[in-house]
Amino acid sequence: MSYDTILEIGKRRGIVYPSFEIYGGLAGFIDYGPVGSRIKNNLQEVLRRQYIVSEGCMEVECPTVSPEPVWVASGHVKSFADITTECLKCGEPYRADHLVAQKANIRTEGMSISDLAKAIDEYRITCPKCGGKLENPYTFNLMFQTHVGPGRNKVTAYLRPETAQTTYLPFKRLFETARRKLPFGVLQIGRSYRNEISPRQVMIRLREFLQAEIQYFLDPATKNDPVNLPQEAKKNISIRTKKDDVVEKTIEQALNEGIITCPLIAYHLALALRFFTDVGIDPSKLSLRQHRDDERAFYSSDTWDVEYLSPSIGRIELVGISDRGDYDLTQHINVSKQDLSVNIDGRKFVPHVLEVAYGVDRPIYCLLESCLRPADKEGRDYEWFAFPPAVAPYRAGVFALQKKDNLPEKAREVFELLKNAGLYVYSDESGSIGRRYARADEIGVPYAVTIDYDSLKDGTVTVRDRDTKQQRRVSISELPALLK
Ligand code: GLY
Repeated sequence: MSYDTILEIGKRRGIVYPSFEIYGGLAGFIDYGPVGSRIKNNLQEVLRRQYIVSEGCMEVECPTVSPEPVWVASGHVKSFADITTECLKCGEPYRADHLVAQKANIRTEGMSISDLAKAIDEYRITCPKCGGKLENPYTFNLMFQTHVGPGRNKVTAYLRPETAQTTYLPFKRLFETARRKLPFGVLQIGRSYRNEISPRQVMIRLREFLQAEIQYFLDPATKNDPVNLPQEAKKNISIRTKKDDVVEKTIEQALNEGIITCPLIAYHLALALRFFTDVGIDPSKLSLRQHRDDERAFYSSDTWDVEYLSPSIGRIELVGISDRGDYDLTQHINVSKQDLSVNIDGRKFVPHVLEVAYGVDRPIYCLLESCLRPADKEGRDYEWFAFPPAVAPYRAGVFALQKKDNLPEKAREVFELLKNAGLYVYSDESGSIGRRYARADEIGVPYAVTIDYDSLKDGTVTVRDRDTKQQRRVSISELPALLK
């Protein structure tokens, strides 16, 4: 199914739609609707269960606006930029490297402004929209600048382009909470902002997006120690190395053969595969990719991504796992003049950071694509979503078979029971029961509870399974535990 069709279905079903629609929209911003918001919150809950409950990380929440020195220290003021060109006729902006790569069919990573200007000339590249002449490329910083407070004393600030830096700043306090021991991990889920030059695929490249980034603070003396790898490290997967070789092997083999050099990176790649599979992303479409030396972010010495091969739009990076070394903390020591080093057993050092950086919006697109099922010949003449219960917007819909004979009253009783048991359920009284099952399937609700005439007599209901369409009778008293 095409990207546009998936988004169209998402719009109609209250999952996701362009923001500011009544004012003509603005590229790079999306709203999650009532159904999408539930899916997004559930996805975050699965992530928290994995990293806070199972992995024992802490969680923080920091401001999205931060003063300029933070971003001078991090290197973003100087280096977080893309090279841009604009059409002199219609004003359409383009990322120069992407445009040249696409039109000249050449690799453009690492090309300078003058290289790109030369390529635009040499390959006679013009504006794809109107054919106009392109302006000389220039550097465009992707951070949104703002000011805090009025007048002459206002403070220059930026909307954060990543949560990571804001997690590093209170490192000393986090170290205290961690009882002055390493390693420890800190998750931050929050909004970040990038003034992307030309965001076209709305859920993939957003200007305001949700990140879930985990920073592991490590002792450099032990950061390469062996670790017990999860089960997911023992399954074959396609791996593209930084030399662009593609091999099919397990993460464990890749680590043993030195393709992945840091055991912790191997460990976190495997955990990320578990997370994506748990939330319903098709595991057969996942692969690993090591960043080439010429594309790696300025702060990282080694970066690996888990990618999803989307049938509709190609490769999508879902998580980046980076060895950031002591780069960030050292930079903040230099600029803030605060001592962020630690002293453990008489050794004074700056901790290293291993970052696991998830975007949240992209996995949601991938799970929509992975879970969308076509209309079938056996009575479902509509597309439906097979979301796993953990991310489905509601656990069940509660329906009265008829709008009479006390069935709605009984249905309300069952609805209250399930609600009071802490389950996300909804009731739907409009249209035929078949139509209500269809509406539940269309937003991927895994179960439908129907109250019929037998319910009034013997206190049982039917529970319909979305995937098999099979129904079974269950006593009302058993329902909360069953649905949980
Ligand atoms: N913190 C890494 C990233 O934003 O991509």
